[in-house]
Amino acid sequence: MPPVHVLGPDELRAAHRLFAATIQQDPVPDDDWERAGRSYSPGRTLGVADDGALIGTATSFPTRTAVPGGAALDTAAVTRVGVRPDRTRRGVLSAMMRTLLDDAVDRGEPLASLRASEARIYGRFGYGVASRGRHVCVSGRGAGWRREPAGAVRLVLGADIEPTLTALHDVLALRRPGGITRRPAWWWAQVGRFVAKEQHLVAAVHTGPDGDDGFALASPLPEGSFSHRALKVNDLHADGPDSTAALWAFLTGIDLVDRVDGWLRPVDEPLELLLADPRDCTVTGAEDETWLRLVDVPAALAARAWGDGAPVLVGVHDRLLPANDGVYRIGGGTAERVGADPELECDVDALAMAYLGDRAPSLLAATGWWRVHDAGAPARADALFAADRLPWCGTYF
Ligand SMILES: CC(C)(COP(=O)(O)OP(=O)(O)OC[C@H]1O[C@@H](n2cnc3c(N)ncnc32)[C@H](O)[C@@H]1OP(=O)(O)O)[C@@H](O)C(=O)NCCC(=O)NCCS
Repeated sequence: MPPVHVLGPDELRAAHRLFAATIQQDPVPDDDWERAGRSYSPGRTLGVADDGALIGTATSFPTRTAVPGGAALDTAAVTRVGVRPDRTRRGVLSAMMRTLLDDAVDRGEPLASLRASEARIYGRFGYGVASRGRHVCVSGRGAGWRREPAGAVRLVLGADIEPTLTALHDVLALRRPGGITRRPAWWWAQVGRFVAKEQHLVAAVHTGPDGDDGFALASPLPEGSFSHRALKVNDLHADGPDSTAALWAFLTGIDLVDRVDGWLRPVDEPLELLLADPRDCTVTGAEDETWLRLVDVPAALAARAWGDGAPVLVGVHDRLLPANDGVYRIGGGTAERVGADPELECDVDALAMAYLGDRAPSLLAATGWWRVHDAGAPARADALFAADRLPWCGTYF
């Protein structure tokens, strides 16, 4: 197989074109390339070329991921992965993933993260589903809320949207495990380019007793008619049920809006508990959100907070990064590698499934993801891995 190489600035457009084609999209037009090109972090895009043409590409950008306890760990966010359809299943992706992992190790990034087009691709590279979301549809006009939403909601317009939401997002998102910081290119793709073209967006901020504590961004869905409109929530981060209720009540209460759809919303967003009629919220789907890779297992385990309870010995196996192999003693608020026999064992992808608090070790053991050598260990591990809130990110990349 031809080697993986780091692409120079003059090769990025070809990489962008190749990736777009692999997900069946048009290339970006000349006018938009300058901005799209800026979204690539220098020195972090890989390519595989054959016969003078790119046949595979993948890139990453730096972000930080909040973990239980509040620390935010440097993370390689892997994205724009594609292999030309006539060159798939020959190891091109495998070679690029290997290089991306080595690159994260060299950069000292303890985590890598991605969003998967298909669920069967990334487990083999040590990524596991670490947060999930659900798709919801909430009735408009008819929806009533159990109590009058507290606080005030104000509309944010035009050029004010991006700076207002940016400032709020990074504070709110990092309060929850799984939240990541966003970069300007994300905001340009999700907000800036629509504002520049004066396309319609609904942006709103909620103010609670302690100041601004939530925001929502929605855009119109194409279906419906003049007096029966539907909105799609593109972004909604809220600090607690009052802010959540007020923002959803605002969107569903806009005149002419019959329906508001949300995609990959937090699994524990309490819409059914907030609505007067819980059936005004229909769950239309559920999907994996964060695919997380613990690149540096000792550093990642040491960085998160642990629950109370008796310690547990977890054996970790990492086929691609054997420096992570070992038995980790978790307990007393810390995690460290020890020379002992494991009470539980897992591969690094299955460790990621519990790391942010999404899946309980006992459930992972019962479903065959973790192996049990001590019958009392799963319950102890559950208490240690438990987090205050289910993880959720809310940023798709
Ligand atoms: C997904 C994609 C990048 C895989 O590239 P690839 O070069 O074919 O992958 P590899 O040859 O390195 O495959 C490695 C292994 O993963 C498996 N695999 C790869 N893609 C798979 C898929 N979509 N479904 C199931 N298994 C897959 C291969 O069969 C192979 O298994 P093996 O090690 O047991 O032989 C490529 O199919 C693609 O570009 N798809 C369309 C765009 C896309 O979905 N990109 C990902 C965005 S998140």
